Amino acid sequence: MIIFQNNVFHASTKNTSYIIRVRDGQYIEQLYYGKKIRHTSDYEALYEKNGTGYGNSIVTPTDSRLTLDNICLEYSFSGTGDYRHIPLTLQMPDSCFSNQFVYDSYRIYQGTYEENDKTNMPFAKKSQDKEQEDVETLDIVLKDTVYPVYLHLIYTFFYECDVIVRLVKIENHCEDSIRIEKVMSMMLDLPEQEYYLHTFDGLWIRERHKNRKKLVSGIYVNDSTTGSSSNRHNPFIMLTKANCTQDTGDCFGFNLIYSGNHYEAVEVSEYGKIRIMSGLNPHQFAWTLDGNDVFYTPQAVLTYSDKGQNGLSHNMHVFVNQHIIPSNWQGKERPIVINNWEATYFDFTGDKLLEIAEEAKSLGIEMFVLDDGWFSNRNDDTSSLGDWTVNEKKIGGTLDGFVKKINNLGIKFGLWFEPEMICEISELYRQHPDWAVKVPGREAYLGRNQLVLDLTRQEVCEYIVDAVTSILKSAPVEYVKWDMNRHITDAYSAGLLKRQGEFYHRYILGLYQIMKEITEEFPDVLFESCSSGGNRFDLGMLFYMPQIWTSDNTDANQRIDIQEGTSFGYPLSAMAAHVSAVPNHQTLRNISIETRFHVACFGVLGYEIDITKLTEMEKIAVAQQISFYKQYRRLFQFGTFSRLKSEQNLVVWQVTSGDQKEAVILVYQRLAVSNPPGDIIKAVNLLPDEIYTVKSRKQYIIKGKEEVAGMSEEEEYQVFGDMLMHAGIKLVQQFSGTELLEQTRLMGDFGTRVYEIKKK
Ligand code: DGJ
Repeated sequence: MIIFQNNVFHASTKNTSYIIRVRDGQYIEQLYYGKKIRHTSDYEALYEKNGTGYGNSIVTPTDSRLTLDNICLEYSFSGTGDYRHIPLTLQMPDSCFSNQFVYDSYRIYQGTYEENDKTNMPFAKKSQDKEQEDVETLDIVLKDTVYPVYLHLIYTFFYECDVIVRLVKIENHCEDSIRIEKVMSMMLDLPEQEYYLHTFDGLWIRERHKNRKKLVSGIYVNDSTTGSSSNRHNPFIMLTKANCTQDTGDCFGFNLIYSGNHYEAVEVSEYGKIRIMSGLNPHQFAWTLDGNDVFYTPQAVLTYSDKGQNGLSHNMHVFVNQHIIPSNWQGKERPIVINNWEATYFDFTGDKLLEIAEEAKSLGIEMFVLDDGWFSNRNDDTSSLGDWTVNEKKIGGTLDGFVKKINNLGIKFGLWFEPEMICEISELYRQHPDWAVKVPGREAYLGRNQLVLDLTRQEVCEYIVDAVTSILKSAPVEYVKWDMNRHITDAYSAGLLKRQGEFYHRYILGLYQIMKEITEEFPDVLFESCSSGGNRFDLGMLFYMPQIWTSDNTDANQRIDIQEGTSFGYPLSAMAAHVSAVPNHQTLRNISIETRFHVACFGVLGYEIDITKLTEMEKIAVAQQISFYKQYRRLFQFGTFSRLKSEQNLVVWQVTSGDQKEAVILVYQRLAVSNPPGDIIKAVNLLPDEIYTVKSRKQYIIKGKEEVAGMSEEEEYQVFGDMLMHAGIKLVQQFSGTELLEQTRLMGDFGTRVYEIKKK
């Protein structure tokens, strides 16, 4: 898979090639990254030709025509005449910022990076699936020309899913320390500049909305400074060529296996080249690397597809499902939960919870999750975070006793925690005010009445591990929702003295240590990460916790955008999605229970509603939804997901089984159009020569002015795969202001239909 010949490394995955060379024995030149090309003995056609020099550019000491400012490189250094964004700011022992790292040696070996375990960070790992085993690593070592400081450019190639993982290791063999102010996990230069940049941006209850910008000369930054990967700008970004659609054309995707402040920059240089980098955010970052010590960056993820944005998403989905999430959760179906948060908020008793759990069980739900408010004096959000003692008065006995009552109903039990936080009104704060993150002598900023615990300190990490572990040991808890509800401010730790520039990264290292210890101790507990919804939706969290609460927004019309945005970089198995009450608590919008379900079932389904208050019709609908979801659960969580249409008023999604024998299509209409045009659904990813039955899912709809619930129209077809994919099915006519017949498709505002597709 990786061939080294004539100073050229040619690495290939199933459908891509990555070609770099050692130029003049010194520089690592990027020759090609894209659709797979054959290996040859002569790559001269791909070399950057420097024939005449460039006006006032700087040239290298060894080649008077070579300017590093206009050549595609794999990593670049300050003080070398490359005036594009540089991925490294490193102050050497003599205090200078010039670095001349040149090629020293390389190693190629089977498997993932040998030092993954030493990095104390999440990493891409081997899959449980034998077919995904083809993995190889290349370690290129560069050495500074003056000091014994080494830089490793490490690449791991995941053949089956067309993913490359890169990281950088810095080894300081000097006696003296060096200071790292910026170090990117990867830099990639591409020779052309005609690209669109896609970022996934938002805020609380508005996460990961896709934004597309045409790139022109300049520097584009996508980052987070909140202390977590954030809901502002997700670390996943895409670059597409103008020809790129959902299913065709060139598309590059980049992500970072990291949960803290991240930084992605894309620069279009004046020479028409493009430079992409991704890594730790240099914002307030300064790391003192002592003599004989090493520094590892987080791992960056790169993928390319010539099959458009869906092709790229498929690569990412397989990669996350096979190489990121904990091995014992790979391909393992997740339970349908009922969560009491939006049903009761803080206002519950043990009896009320049992009532909800009992009703939920009768409708087919498999797990009851007790959210915030079960501990200490926490009856609103002003107090008690940090005091992880069960409020037995509130839940009517011990936790163990309560869980047994839940289990006796035939349903599993899950519990909410927010371990990284502390309230000033808490016993923990009374005992350890210094454990809260704040700057001595300065008034601290509050978020949701809480402060952040100082995870850079070992004793704080130990406290959290002990507190969570002892609760989990005290009762049969089978799921944990791990929440984190504020951004970091006042970054300072008494333990770091003059090294406050290390705070943000050390916080995340502390978090990773805590999550590693707890998840390893309870491997069978399903952990779901959450941060005010999707404020920390990233590959670092997914390494420890296989699913994430996608957003606090459960309005189906918002969720369709949030889940679609998320789907570009993350699989459905990672997205927890719940059906909640109407009017929706985040938007006050009314959307039918069937539409709420149809959107939520494209992910890990749950309910977050006082189910005891549903009407009889809604209860019947929910019971049918749950049995439908159970029938297709594997598809909804692990199927191949494709975005078929993403129009202003119409969104169409499909999930397909790995063997292409089964699929489900969702049609979502935002607003009813008067006298609307006809709708056609065209599937993808089926077997052209096989016959499929296509059937609309029967659902409840409110029919006409009388507001009577009835069943939707029924459609059923037998079609060959090629007809379904290329010609499509013309669906029955939508209501158009005249008759409302049995076969009229009444979609209305926020209407959906789901079609089941099965090979005969
Ligand atoms: C924020 C989460 O996103 C919600 O789902 C809920 O768990 C609350 N925190 C509880 O405080």
